[in-house]
Amino acid sequence: MDDPLVYLNGAMMPLSEARISVLDRGFIFGDGIYEVTPVYRRRLFRPEQHLARFMRGMRAIDLQNPHDEAGWLGLMQQVVDAAPTEDQLLYMQITRGVARRTHAFPAQTPAPTVFLMSNPLLPPPPSVHEHGVACVTMEDKRWLRCEIKSISLLGNVLAAQNAAEQDANETIQFRDGYLTEGSASNVWIVKDGALISPPRDNLILEGIRYSLMEALCAEQNIPFAARRIARNEVFHADEVLLTSASREVMPVVTIDGERVGNGKPGPIYRKLYAAYQRAKVA
Ligand code: PDD
Repeated sequence: MDDPLVYLNGAMMPLSEARISVLDRGFIFGDGIYEVTPVYRRRLFRPEQHLARFMRGMRAIDLQNPHDEAGWLGLMQQVVDAAPTEDQLLYMQITRGVARRTHAFPAQTPAPTVFLMSNPLLPPPPSVHEHGVACVTMEDKRWLRCEIKSISLLGNVLAAQNAAEQDANETIQFRDGYLTEGSASNVWIVKDGALISPPRDNLILEGIRYSLMEALCAEQNIPFAARRIARNEVFHADEVLLTSASREVMPVVTIDGERVGNGKPGPIYRKLYAAYQRAKVA
């Protein structure tokens, strides 16, 4: 089995030797924040943006941040440099640390648990870009602080499993009849040549690709709007796209078995995918 070097609480070690306490509040309560950053040719892609979201998450849950920006970036690059492949997905997580089990924050603040590991980044296979992917839908049953990249991911896990059980790539979630997001991706629709996304609010995680897609639209002269999107607009869209650190930009060609547009990856997808590939190596 691969045994990459990981970072845990101040030291690099083989993954197989990394250990935490069963009283860690991440294990007991899901009390922590995580981040997933793509790495191309050993260069972190948009690290400042990923780090800013990570730190925002810590502030949102009153978790004491043990490092400044330069400290975090140093740790991130250290783990990337120790990994065997050029293209990677860097995972980092911080929890409120180890304490006797009581729900409220421990009276004496424990040292946070800090963990970083990096895995090979496997881009979606060419067939995804030629033929697109199938998605299914589900009511969004998660909490109302989805803007926080919390390690409490049970709602997302169940949504992802819902897709897996139906041989679909992703579950597109709706709350009260309006589009929110995928189990681990942002969802976009295209109508009459414009790219439209749900607004940045507490009902979705604002992907690092959210602002990037907005910028790529400006660059490509594609009109962009952020607004609430009703369920029937998704089913009548010309195109539907997914974005995330690992999916990059992905075309959706069926939803719940119904064809999206003409059932093929569309022209706006092609432009944005090509622009994303250029941004990766810029
Ligand atoms: N997930 N929404 C949710 C719920 C997500 O989990 C993710 C990413 C995104 C897209 O964010 P970004 O563009 O920053 O990757 C949106 C990561 C990849 C994960 O959990 O593995």
